[in-house]
Amino acid sequence: MLRVEGLSVAYRKVPALSEVTLEVGEGQLVGLIGPNGAGKSTLVKTIAGLVKATSGSIVFDGNSLLGKATEDIVRLGVGFVPEGRHIFQTLSVEENLSLGYASGRGFDASTHDAVLDRFPILRRYYRDSAAGLSGGEQQQLAIARALLARPRLLILDEPSLGLAPLMVDSVFEVLVSLQRDGVTILLVEQNASRTVATADRTYVLGAGHIRAQGTSAELLSREDMLETYLGKKV
Ligand SMILES: Nc1ncnc2c1ncn2[C@@H]1O[C@H](COP(=O)(O)OP(=O)(O)O)[C@@H](O)[C@H]1O
Ligand SMILES: [Mg+2]
Repeated sequence: MLRVEGLSVAYRKVPALSEVTLEVGEGQLVGLIGPNGAGKSTLVKTIAGLVKATSGSIVFDGNSLLGKATEDIVRLGVGFVPEGRHIFQTLSVEENLSLGYASGRGFDASTHDAVLDRFPILRRYYRDSAAGLSGGEQQQLAIARALLARPRLLILDEPSLGLAPLMVDSVFEVLVSLQRDGVTILLVEQNASRTVATADRTYVLGAGHIRAQGTSAELLSREDMLETYLGKKV
């Protein structure tokens, strides 16, 4: 469904990604882990049209995404939940959500109801200011907003960052249930062990290069992966 090939990105000539190749198949939940500064956000922002590539290709459902505007990429069916959630604190839950279908394929009542069914807390605080929501609830709002655009591929950048453990659990539960409902997912996470355990396959990024990729069993069988990226003593 998504194929990134030989992708390189630089900020003012300083390389951030070098020849990155990554594939997400329809219906899969694919993880992307790696230390701070590895280039994870750069990779997903480039897919979302927010950062320019120097070379390589990004193809989604047969469409090249390189050079396309973010709104056109959203319209093709790619949803993006940015790092830090980007909720408008001064707006209500409803107004934050309306930005989702504004950027997508228009308002669809059944999608709207289905999304609110998934996140009952958002229905409860629908007319209230988003500033009153906890961090975990704001993350639900950010995910809900992306879902209103009816993405076929949902990309999330560190959705569990800064959340209390119970809220981290609920984020992972939401992702698993979305996958079950047919949404393809590319998940960027610092929570490496949890991601490897949840995803069908995980890519490990280090200093702009893909260092490894594989299933949980494949990655956990590699001592270098365990020690360097999964924080486990071998
Ligand atoms: N807007 C930017 N301008 C210049 N350098 C950047 C910018 N964004 C990220 N970088 C640099 O690119 C590298 C990768 O960053 P990033 O993609 O944010 O990594 P990660 O998400 O894995 O922590 C880092 O060295 C970072 O300092
Ligand atoms: Mg990042």
